[in-house]
Amino acid sequence: MDCEDVMSERQQEKKAGDSAFEKRVRRRVAAREHTFYVGATPGLGGLLAREAEARLGLDVTRVTGGVEFSARLETLWEAALHLRLANRILVRLSTFTADGFNRLERRTAEIPWELWLPADADIEVVVTTHHCRLYHSGAVAERVEKVVAKALPGGGKGTVPQKIYVRGEDDHFTLSLDAVGDPLFKRQVKTHGGRAPIRETLASAILAMAGYTGDGPLADPMCGAGTFSLEAAMLATHTPPGLFRQFAFEAWPSFREKGFAHLKREGEVGIRRFEAPMIFASDLDEGAVGRLGKTLAGMPFGGAVSLQVADFFALNPASLSADPGVVVFNPPYGKRIKGGNDAFVKRLLAHLGAEWKGWKTAIAVPKAQVPRPLPEGFHEHPMSHGGLDLSVIIGKLP
Ligand SMILES: C[S@@+](CC[C@H](N)C(=O)[O-])C[C@H]1O[C@@H](n2cnc3c(N)ncnc32)[C@H](O)[C@@H]1O
Repeated sequence: MDCEDVMSERQQEKKAGDSAFEKRVRRRVAAREHTFYVGATPGLGGLLAREAEARLGLDVTRVTGGVEFSARLETLWEAALHLRLANRILVRLSTFTADGFNRLERRTAEIPWELWLPADADIEVVVTTHHCRLYHSGAVAERVEKVVAKALPGGGKGTVPQKIYVRGEDDHFTLSLDAVGDPLFKRQVKTHGGRAPIRETLASAILAMAGYTGDGPLADPMCGAGTFSLEAAMLATHTPPGLFRQFAFEAWPSFREKGFAHLKREGEVGIRRFEAPMIFASDLDEGAVGRLGKTLAGMPFGGAVSLQVADFFALNPASLSADPGVVVFNPPYGKRIKGGNDAFVKRLLAHLGAEWKGWKTAIAVPKAQVPRPLPEGFHEHPMSHGGLDLSVIIGKLP
């Protein structure tokens, strides 16, 4: 079928009130279960699997880099809205073997692209191959793009960005469609940047590792752009982390605005209000504190956080909370620190040991800068942050 055939078929369907096209979308996409891949930050697959099973109420399978599950599209919407540890979600469209371009094109053309993608999609094809006879990723991308473009009235050069992933390994190809667009750690909550902010998904994972459940006090005494405090506030108030952003699937023909709006409304209604803040953010940097204050003021969960300009080493934890809770840091690291970063972390640990008795602690630092030996009762959890090997030092202060 060439581009003109698709257009005339669409036009005929338009005449028939779109009902034939909609029926096909319903039958082939909306009414079926699909396999979804949810990508995690390296080192966090296990935590993501536990979160997805608890949140979505289904069994997930651990795979390289994340988890997979089978479900209908409504579960995808729910996952995108609620998972705090997921970086991206793809829908698996086809897997096949191909050792030549003809077969690659034929199998790609079997996917009903027009039922998945918006008519005015702007397609980007991202290819990785490993041990494949079709090893030239640029040529693979070109062929796949050509086939997909034929299926769409806008020829794949429209205005709505949509990304297709092609992964080839030993001549075995998987074609997937990016369901969310911008990575999920982009919550579109922060209106400001900051010095070396930690990713939202990583901040959430560190909070979970430190044992923060959203119920007790949390201190974020080097808050910078405030990622820990924002993530903790959303968790404590039961705010869905995806509530403030948009997703690629909202442009798909299978998207049902009413159904998704209902899910979002349920999320909004469930937001818990706090009478007194239980999350204590502070920083030496007045500008950073001011910017975080502005973000919090515009958010329904803002009341959960108290803010002040303060030097951590002069802060009295008893002035924050009578009961010990969780204290989290990703301290400044790199050349900027006099005496090296492990000296700073040692000082931090010594100060915490003397003044923050009973608090559970998590400190994220580059792996090479973990002071050794760690104090008794502390262990480290390796993870990766934008290509940098990090360790989270976790323990409870005696
Ligand atoms: C890497 S940034 C923190 C990033 C933050 N967690 C985020 O995600 O945006 C380190 C922060 O530590 C703050 N800082 C450094 N020394 C401090 C001290 N003694 N007391 C309070 N804040 C301090 C810096 O001003 C900076 O904002």
